Amino acid sequence: MGLRFKFTLAISALTATVLCFSGLFYYLMQRNLHERNLTIQQDDIANSLAHIASEAVLVQDDLLAQHFSEYLKKTNPSVLFCYVSSHGRIIAHSDRSYISAPVSRFRYDERETIVLSKALSVGSTPVRVVVGFSEKVLDENLEHLRAQLFSGFVNILLFSLVLGYAASFLLASSLTRPVEQMARVIKTAGGGNLGVRINLHRRDEIGYLADEFDSMLARLNELERMKEDFVSAVTHELKSPLSAIESYLDLMLYEIKVERCPPAKFEADIKYVKKNTSRLFRFISDVLDAGKINSGKFSIKKAPFPVEALAAEVLTLFKERADSLRITLAGPDADARTLVMADEERIRQVLTNLVSNSLKFTPEGGTVSVSVRQPDEGDSHVTVCVDDTGVGIPETDRVRMFGLFEQGRNAPLHTKSPKGTGLGLFIAKSIVAAHGGVIRAESGLGKGTRIYFTLDTATEEVSDG
Ligand SMILES: Nc1ncnc2c1ncn2[C@@H]1O[C@H](COP(=O)(O)OP(=O)(O)OP(=O)(O)O)[C@@H](O)[C@H]1O
Ligand SMILES: [Mg+2]
Repeated sequence: MGLRFKFTLAISALTATVLCFSGLFYYLMQRNLHERNLTIQQDDIANSLAHIASEAVLVQDDLLAQHFSEYLKKTNPSVLFCYVSSHGRIIAHSDRSYISAPVSRFRYDERETIVLSKALSVGSTPVRVVVGFSEKVLDENLEHLRAQLFSGFVNILLFSLVLGYAASFLLASSLTRPVEQMARVIKTAGGGNLGVRINLHRRDEIGYLADEFDSMLARLNELERMKEDFVSAVTHELKSPLSAIESYLDLMLYEIKVERCPPAKFEADIKYVKKNTSRLFRFISDVLDAGKINSGKFSIKKAPFPVEALAAEVLTLFKERADSLRITLAGPDADARTLVMADEERIRQVLTNLVSNSLKFTPEGGTVSVSVRQPDEGDSHVTVCVDDTGVGIPETDRVRMFGLFEQGRNAPLHTKSPKGTGLGLFIAKSIVAAHGGVIRAESGLGKGTRIYFTLDTATEEVSDG
């Protein structure tokens, strides 16, 4: 049984139940009202006769009461008889033959009659007014009214049921149609096409669900694209140093074989092999670190060390590369010895990643500099900045770049630079966060980039050795 049918059935059943109960309640109320109206009507008849009778006694015109009694009988089918008596004698009666007769002479069938009697005194004259109603006629009247009421109630109930069924069918359809549409899209997405969207544009819970699902699909699509990029980058990062190493080793073997192997050339070849091995090693370490960070197994060992010395050391490592790219490197004041409390090896990794990025994204003639900013008054954080005059990061990408495998569209300027895997900033951010610091980027397209992070200062002294 489909959801639409179940919904329709449930809502219709609910509507029918509510209508039946409220209809029944209304019917019972109306019936009581009619019964009460009939009683009031009878009372009115008796009262009007009493009124006319007192007038008649007052003006001593029995004929007035007589005419009215006859009139009442003629105009009200429920009135069987009515009379006015005084001092035990009938002075007016709907049946003229009882006029002036003693009251005891008039008899009627008590089982079929409802009698209303009123006693009044006009001046010193006691007057009694009696009206007899036919129980049968009254019952017929009531039955007629009830039947009218019941058929009205049934008609309205049927009409409401049809209307309720149509409305519940429409409501059920409006609920199930988007669900069916979502099911179709989910099926297509499950089949591997992550480009599909539900696009419901509804401002209710189903609309929110569809929007969330569309965002999830967009994110999955993005992840799929990142996965493809990552696989291609990983392949590239593994393949290119390995093939370089292989071809240099082949070359060296050949040179040894033909005995054409001057030591200087041999040293240059070994250096090249070493460089590619380091690149491979760095890449594998990055992947392992990212794995550790993601599984929460990443730990640091803090100790005090001077941060300027570390920055100078890192810059020395990049000197040769910077020279070959004609980029100027600038370091912090060599005499400054700002002590920070951190894991030196991990901070070296952060600085290496940042400086390597700056070199990668800075064109010839540019500058890459590392500086250390002392804590402000009352603050205990040192800020380490890596600035470059490179291509910059577009505003929209600045926060995203710190995510896992995230890379910008500002492709490396130097075709010889490694393609990268989008791990550098993610690892840097995780290391800084593990130290309780923050890392931020200030940049704009074509405006160069500043990436800075904070570290705790250390109060402990370190020996110069
Ligand atoms: N100094 C910079 N100037 C311009 N863009 C930068 C800079 N640093 C980072 N980026 C942008 O941020 C992206 C992410 O940097 P990240 O270091 O995480 O990855 P990567 O350098 O591409 O690869 P990997 O570091 O894994 O070799 C880069 O691809 C680049 O688009
Ligand atoms: Mg990088």
